[in-house]
Amino acid sequence: MSTKPATDAAGHDAAMLLAIEQAQRVKGKTYPNPPVGAVVVDRDGRVVGVGGTGPTGEAHAEVVALRRAGELAAGGTVVVTLEPCNHHGRTPPCVDALLAAGVARVAYAVDDPNPEAAGGAARLAAAGLEVLAGVQADAVRAGPLREWLHKQRTGLPHVTWKYATSIDGRSAAADGSSQWITSEAARADLHRRRAAADAIVVGTGTVLVDDPTLTARLPDGTLADRQPLRVVVGQREISADAHVLNDDSRTMVIRTHDPAEVLRALSDRTDVLLEGGPTLAGAFLRAGAIDRILAYVAPILLGGPITAVDDVGVPSIARALRWRYDSVEPIGPDLLLSLVPN
Ligand SMILES: NC(=O)c1ccc[n+]([C@@H]2O[C@H](COP(=O)([O-])OP(=O)(O)OC[C@H]3O[C@@H](n4cnc5c(N)ncnc54)[C@H](OP(=O)(O)O)[C@@H]3O)[C@@H](O)[C@H]2O)c1
Repeated sequence: MSTKPATDAAGHDAAMLLAIEQAQRVKGKTYPNPPVGAVVVDRDGRVVGVGGTGPTGEAHAEVVALRRAGELAAGGTVVVTLEPCNHHGRTPPCVDALLAAGVARVAYAVDDPNPEAAGGAARLAAAGLEVLAGVQADAVRAGPLREWLHKQRTGLPHVTWKYATSIDGRSAAADGSSQWITSEAARADLHRRRAAADAIVVGTGTVLVDDPTLTARLPDGTLADRQPLRVVVGQREISADAHVLNDDSRTMVIRTHDPAEVLRALSDRTDVLLEGGPTLAGAFLRAGAIDRILAYVAPILLGGPITAVDDVGVPSIARALRWRYDSVEPIGPDLLLSLVPN
């Protein structure tokens, strides 16, 4: 195959960043397809079409962007976050659409790990197109495709443990109250993430103390179009009147203490948010079942006994669980720390 490595990618980085933005916009809406973004650049270097994967069963990103570009795509470049697919799924192969549009060049970020869909780059190169692989691949792997790539690799959903904490690592005040540690701006950010997630998981402890609704809401308080599945883990009964059982979304109760069993029950999902309290967070960390941490840190001090996480199985500093910061972002008066395993 005559695809070229990313060192040849100069000039496509800006278009790829635009494609990443398109992919982020459709995150959560494309299941079981990956959230992909694409940009069409004409032969004079102008952006003439952008697109993200449509909802389930609808067009892939390349096809959406090509439709927008129309005849201006001929002789131009398509920049796309994932290798164009080469198979008939619910829609025809994207490679066919690229060939029909007469584009001269395709630059993509990440190879398709799915053997059924792979081979697109080779077919394009064999047809005489210039094909560049690996453009901004790290940004795509860490960004819009992170959860989907994890699912392809492991067969299990990607789990993000999200929590709100005071600067001294407390997730609730001494009386158990935790609403609201962080600012409205931080909560709005969380609600956007919930709307893109496939499931939100908490323990019975959080339901019994906080009685949360666990829905994705817009800033005006109304429900977002898309709601994640709500999942409650634990053996205690929860009241039939609990908000988490209302009609705003579906709810699954899993009577176990085993994180692996929770992941198996959610194996048809890709992007899971763990929003439980210190007990469930500790259990998931001990089981190695957390793939990313999102900590909303408020500039307040609470002291007292309720820490963000219980025992994580670390007997001494030498055995600390080591993570690294992926990004640090101010949100209103708070900070959002994103971490991935080191
Ligand atoms: N700041 C934040 O981000 C945040 C988020 C959530 C909660 N909170 C606070 O956290 C407090 C509640 O803490 P929590 O720890 O009770 O909540 P939790 O972790 O959500 O729920 C704990 C319960 O989950 C069940 N469970 C599931 N797997 C388990 C396992 N492997 N080991 C042990 N138990 C397991 C147990 O219930 P069963 O006995 O029913 O089996 C356990 O009592 C509240 O004060 C709440 O406000 C804060």
